[in-house]
Amino acid sequence: MTLTELNQRFAISNHVQFKEIADGIIIAEISNQHGNCNITLQGAHVATWQPRGQEPVIWLSPYAKFAPGKSIRGGVPICWPWFGPHATDAKLSGHGYARTVQWEVLETKALPDDTTFLRFGLVESDATRAQWPHPSPAQLEVTIGKTLRITLITQNNSQESFILGEALHTYFNISDVAKMKIRGLEGCDYLDKVGEPARRTQQDAIVIDSEVDRVYVDTEADCVIEDAGLKRAIRIAKSGSRSTVVWNPWTEKANKMGDFGEHGYRGMVCVESANAFDNLVTVKPGETHRLVVEYSLEAI
Ligand code: BG6
Repeated sequence: MTLTELNQRFAISNHVQFKEIADGIIIAEISNQHGNCNITLQGAHVATWQPRGQEPVIWLSPYAKFAPGKSIRGGVPICWPWFGPHATDAKLSGHGYARTVQWEVLETKALPDDTTFLRFGLVESDATRAQWPHPSPAQLEVTIGKTLRITLITQNNSQESFILGEALHTYFNISDVAKMKIRGLEGCDYLDKVGEPARRTQQDAIVIDSEVDRVYVDTEADCVIEDAGLKRAIRIAKSGSRSTVVWNPWTEKANKMGDFGEHGYRGMVCVESANAFDNLVTVKPGETHRLVVEYSLEAI
């Protein structure tokens, strides 16, 4: 669909319009009384969310690349239909292909309380089928209101079960990594991916002062990022997700990545609502699986 057709069919005045921000990269620009949000059609990638009168809640690197087939550093990348490296084929992209392929707009709606709703569908192609043979249309629903609610839907339309790994790999904007704590994972077991992989148990709130790359398993708990610098907490509520990934690359890794900037890692933390490692999901024929997150702000 061309940009003009998209706007004719799906734009809603005072809610949603579509724009081309780089060659081949179209965004849905959402603005309502609650705040602003941008979503790229490539990857159905929520790139920004800023509630009115607040600093952005979602972090987007100033060095993020917006180009066909490239993943965006920041926002809410969709890891799907596997998380991390592919189980058997190291040539396939880490975190799956959903974040770098085109999605189509299926629906836009203005809801009575001035909330905006959008629904996207992943466009399957020969390239996606070569990586994932199961007919299993993925959809993403995004509701932008007082909170940001995102639902990743996987439908198994095949005759066989498949095993799904996934994450909403959200980068949260924080004042400074030294001024924040993450609560909600105390007592949980996690796979520590920094250095030799090891299984550990989280004792207290998470404080980050070096590289952190952890997959917390068997947890459906809310997480709260307490940010003393911005005097606010970000609450992450979820359902259909039994893993939570916490990631900050710290200096050396961020420098190697080339799209963080020199101090970018200090202003972000990823708290990803996932199904990974011990918590992969078996989706049976005809079943629909939903991973839902809802982000909100609280004063502290
Ligand atoms: C996290 C992984 O989810 O994503 C990390 O646990 C990884 O190991 C990070 O480095 C970023 O991945 P990418 O592919 O977006 O650079």
